[in-house]
Amino acid sequence: MDERIKKILSKMTLEEKTAQLMCVERNQLLEKENFSPSKANAVLKNGAGQISPVLRQFESEQGTEIANEIQKIAAGTGPKVPVIIHDECLHGCMAEGSTSFPQSIALASSWEPAMVEKIARIIGKETRARGIHQALSPTINIARDSRHGRVEETYGEDPYLTSLMAVAFIKGLQSQKVIATPKHFAADFAGDGGRDSGPVFFSERILREVFFPAFKASIIEAKALSVMAAYNSINGIPSSSNRWLLTDVLRGEWGFDGFVVSDYGSVWGLYGSHGVADSLAGAGHLALEAGLDIEIPDSPCFSHLAQLVREGRVSESLIDIAVERVLKGKIWLGLFESPFSDPEKAKKICDCEEHRNFALKAAERCMVLLKNNGILPLSTDTGSIAVIGPNADAVRLGGYSGSGIKVVTAFEGIKNKISKRTKLYFAEGCKVNSIDKSGFSKAVSAAQRADVAILVMGNSSETEGENRDRCNLNLPGVQEDLIKAVSDTGTPVIVVLINGSAITMQNWIGCVDAVIEAWYPGEEGGNAIANVLFGDYNPSGKLPITFPRFTGQLPLYYNHLPCLRKYDYVEVRGFQPMFPFGYGLSYTSFNYRNLKVFSGKSSIKISVEIENTGKYEGNEVVQLYLRDIVCSVIRPVKQLVRFEKIHLKPGEKKIVDFSLNHQDVSFLDENLKPKVEPGLFEVMAGPNSAQGLKATFEIK
Ligand code: BGC
Repeated sequence: MDERIKKILSKMTLEEKTAQLMCVERNQLLEKENFSPSKANAVLKNGAGQISPVLRQFESEQGTEIANEIQKIAAGTGPKVPVIIHDECLHGCMAEGSTSFPQSIALASSWEPAMVEKIARIIGKETRARGIHQALSPTINIARDSRHGRVEETYGEDPYLTSLMAVAFIKGLQSQKVIATPKHFAADFAGDGGRDSGPVFFSERILREVFFPAFKASIIEAKALSVMAAYNSINGIPSSSNRWLLTDVLRGEWGFDGFVVSDYGSVWGLYGSHGVADSLAGAGHLALEAGLDIEIPDSPCFSHLAQLVREGRVSESLIDIAVERVLKGKIWLGLFESPFSDPEKAKKICDCEEHRNFALKAAERCMVLLKNNGILPLSTDTGSIAVIGPNADAVRLGGYSGSGIKVVTAFEGIKNKISKRTKLYFAEGCKVNSIDKSGFSKAVSAAQRADVAILVMGNSSETEGENRDRCNLNLPGVQEDLIKAVSDTGTPVIVVLINGSAITMQNWIGCVDAVIEAWYPGEEGGNAIANVLFGDYNPSGKLPITFPRFTGQLPLYYNHLPCLRKYDYVEVRGFQPMFPFGYGLSYTSFNYRNLKVFSGKSSIKISVEIENTGKYEGNEVVQLYLRDIVCSVIRPVKQLVRFEKIHLKPGEKKIVDFSLNHQDVSFLDENLKPKVEPGLFEVMAGPNSAQGLKATFEIK
């Protein structure tokens, strides 16, 4: 590979080389929304590293043809180097007509990395089939503060769960020859006040303990071929010009040998926002020297690199190193040998029946039952049902979703499910974020006529997502009032939430009979919701983030450090979430017993017995938490170290075995070096982070 790269490089002019570090913005190739070959010929005269999502609005067959045309043009221009076309693939490729799976926070709630890997394989297959080569996914930032609008894009608050999901997603995607881009490196979505990309002031310890592990696993275990640098700054240094992050840690410590892309405009931000560069050229210089290889989606800063080399301010060898990394990616993609895709194949596989069926299975496995006083599951023979709420019959796929597919709403799913005898009423009641209550009377009268009211509430892209952080986690608009108005009718109420982060429920949870967190459940979400409501699927999801009682408790996460004074508020005592991390109910019940710990020389074996003591078969996520009781550096009150999702029939018992190793009981000492200290440890095995059987073991 090295020889081949050197050979390609040796034939390139300086302009052609720097073009490999640049990205062509998709509109530069379009004329009135159509692909323009003449524009492409002009823009690609020196070649290009990447092209931003130029195929997004084209259905699969046409998009694939355009991708092929672009590669033909690239093959005929100066450097004759194929281009990488990138797009977003967070929970489905964003190019039109691709399968839309549940949002990331939902996928994390499945606690099933193997399922996530399979989803990512499908996403990769659809993506590559249409001539797209790099996914700007997955998002693996740690969500410790649920006010952040982009929590929905994450796998939650826990470094271990996030690492497993990240590795699964990257492996799945890259198995289909699509480059994965874990993002946003580093510690994005962690700004004060729940603000996205805000400056953070984090110690190196917390970065290494909480915010780095998923990135480290993405590089070392999953061999991610690209990484996206974040918009934010850490301790006064922007992530996109942070040499320690992008070179010393990423490449030096973790051995990353792919290419780093900017976030959209994050190199510009060094000059235009952070003010660490006095010009666009200066910003490009800083980013390149820090280890950032390609500026996307366009390249106002890197377009100055050739000039900087000519002026002797940037060494050409630095350019060569970055270009080598990009070429290596293109060789890995096989683009030099086969730059083209088959439009017919793309059409056949994008959102095909098999993929749609898997989207349904996945959605079922992601839903979290938060409350049930026994009303669920419903009978399909229920006499009459009122389906109410702003999210009941609306398409809600969450951020970074594609279009051009059939999306099944909750109302449609319920309609598909119920018997012919069941009367079904519908009322929107209110909009997600409006103060207009004029729809309440119709909703109330629907509820009055029904045996049960299903209220489908939550958020939308108007009230959360990128550029939409929240300072109040109550349901927006007048939704809380709608819940109360409907529950005042005396008709039993089931709330289904469609949203992407924590919701505070203090004002209404006492008035409803059941709550299901459905998240943004993907294109088959409505059918999955109906399967859960009517018991065709027994819910088994567990929360990957803590749900607070009040927004003012945030940031609130389970793996905090112990504190001498129990951090009490006037309104809530102690660490009291509404629902803890790892929480989720089932229609059946599970009993945990016989926790056993055997401390061996090289590993600690733990076993626990779980019995299904209820009436339904079901899945349980058995969670294992660890606490280092005495340590020279303060350790969290607990940390998730293992979990396993098991299936049990009524009356069935299983013993789940876990094994912990040296690394699990290690910590970073005062010099941030991994160390194991002798002493007592506590393990807790249970159904969530707040409950479980405990036992201790000793490391001698
Ligand atoms: C986001 C990235 C995303 C990019 C392009 C940015 O604003 O932070 O996550 O990949 O936009 O869609």
